[in-house]
Amino acid sequence: MAIKHFLQFNDLNRDELEYVFERTRWIKSQFKDYQQYWPLQDRTLVMIFEKASTRTRLSFEAGMQQLGGSAIYLNTRDSQLGRGEPVEDAAQVISRMSDLVMIRTFEQEIIERFAANSRVPVINGLTNEYHPCQILADIFTYIEHRGSIKGKTVAWIGDSNNMCHTWLQAAELLDFNVHVSTPPGYEVEPERANLYGTDHFEVFADPMDAARGADLVTTDVWTSMGFEAENEERMRDFADWQVDSDMMRVAAKDALFMHCLPAHRGEEVSAEVIDGVQSVVWDEAENRLHTQKALMEYLLLGKL
Ligand code: CP
Ligand code: NVA
Repeated sequence: MAIKHFLQFNDLNRDELEYVFERTRWIKSQFKDYQQYWPLQDRTLVMIFEKASTRTRLSFEAGMQQLGGSAIYLNTRDSQLGRGEPVEDAAQVISRMSDLVMIRTFEQEIIERFAANSRVPVINGLTNEYHPCQILADIFTYIEHRGSIKGKTVAWIGDSNNMCHTWLQAAELLDFNVHVSTPPGYEVEPERANLYGTDHFEVFADPMDAARGADLVTTDVWTSMGFEAENEERMRDFADWQVDSDMMRVAAKDALFMHCLPAHRGEEVSAEVIDGVQSVVWDEAENRLHTQKALMEYLLLGKL
């Protein structure tokens, strides 16, 4: 049987996503009820981090343990990965000693090369291009609060980064719309925009226009990991792209606010919004745990 990876959001089709969401609901309810559920007993997850993390590491490590398995953390600093061992060789070795691998790295190409040489499923824990596990949690969170996301409008305000790209992929797959507003010079690249089709994706020069009537307003840091050298310039360029109360006021009355975290109050979002009643950022963070448990269960055991 072909190995199933989760390198991009659309590595799962609509049916598979619906299945993962259904399993998430069940796994979450068992967890809340303190019920032991160990379908991955004796399975080992290896987590490779080439960038910092709080949520991703914690949710995968805790999630694997809660499913009865174990998780091993590797980073670039104290493994041979940081000393130039080819990613193909690392994939051969790591995948012979584990059942599942999660990687957080730089270019998407690195994770694709790893997966091509892996004997076990590989999960994208964030690359420069995509953050599919986060969008899985975000959409699950939307569904929990408001029901189906089909036909709804998500306003993406800020950088056209890994989160933005993944929202665009998800919109195509799950049939909702994304309004994108970025500062000039930070637009979604035309080649990438074409990848997702234009049916579910509209660009706005003014962030207020992007947010107008939206069902969900979301943003992310102005400087993603790996782009720190551009920080000063970005602070200037993004100054008018803060999600604040005025922006939330033009969105739909029952609009939600999301942010994958970590957040910078006073930069991409005002404190009033992220700490306000429309914000569901803590549910979003918690749902990383539940959605990824369902994802790991699916990649290892298939449909039950
Ligand atoms: N949202 C997210 O991926 O957080 P971490 O960088 O803390 O893992
Ligand atoms: N876009 C951010 C997300 C962090 C979770 C980054 O890549 O740093």
